[in-house]
Amino acid sequence: MATPISLNPLVRDAQALAHTLLASDPRRLEHVRGAGLIAGMAAGALGIEQPERVVAAAWLHDIGYAPDLCRTGFHPLDGALFLAREGWPESVVLMVAHHSHAAVLAPYYGVQQHMSLLERHPGDGDDIITFSDLRAGANGMGADPRERIDDMRQRHADRTFVPDDVREARYRMMLNAAARVNAAVNRATRAGPTPTHQRAHAS
Ligand SMILES: [Fe+2]
Repeated sequence: MATPISLNPLVRDAQALAHTLLASDPRRLEHVRGAGLIAGMAAGALGIEQPERVVAAAWLHDIGYAPDLCRTGFHPLDGALFLAREGWPESVVLMVAHHSHAAVLAPYYGVQQHMSLLERHPGDGDDIITFSDLRAGANGMGADPRERIDDMRQRHADRTFVPDDVREARYRMMLNAAARVNAAVNRATRAGPTPTHQRAHAS
């Protein structure tokens, strides 16, 4: 019988790190816990390679909000830079840097040069993390992606340094990513277990 993804050593390390860095922010900790669980289910259904890296990145995607990690003030980059310094696998670093189409916002936070050095990791991991970020909701509970985007629209309304059309374009990219994963998971679930040489892809 396969070992549950939650017991994988990399995932265990990611859980422990998230608990340490987000201890003072229990709501966000619940959010990343939910994202980790959802990423595990999606990665398992899709039969992707190295699912533990995607699940670890889902647990770690918001650690850049931890005050101790703040370098640039752009949380995807601050989290990724910390993970790179700590020697985490490059794919985890890149998935954290690019989670939920963060690169779209980079120019408005003055970090485009930094972000351009971090290429997107190929594969379905980015989409799965975006899906998990939206489905986990702000407090880790199951959320409807469209309602979650509406909530983000309200919470981020004061970030007027990001033009409305850029913000809306990113939201559309996030919803499209979530829809791709949702459709792929539904197909895979209907089809049953997939042989390793015919694995489903989210995009
Ligand atoms: Fe998040």
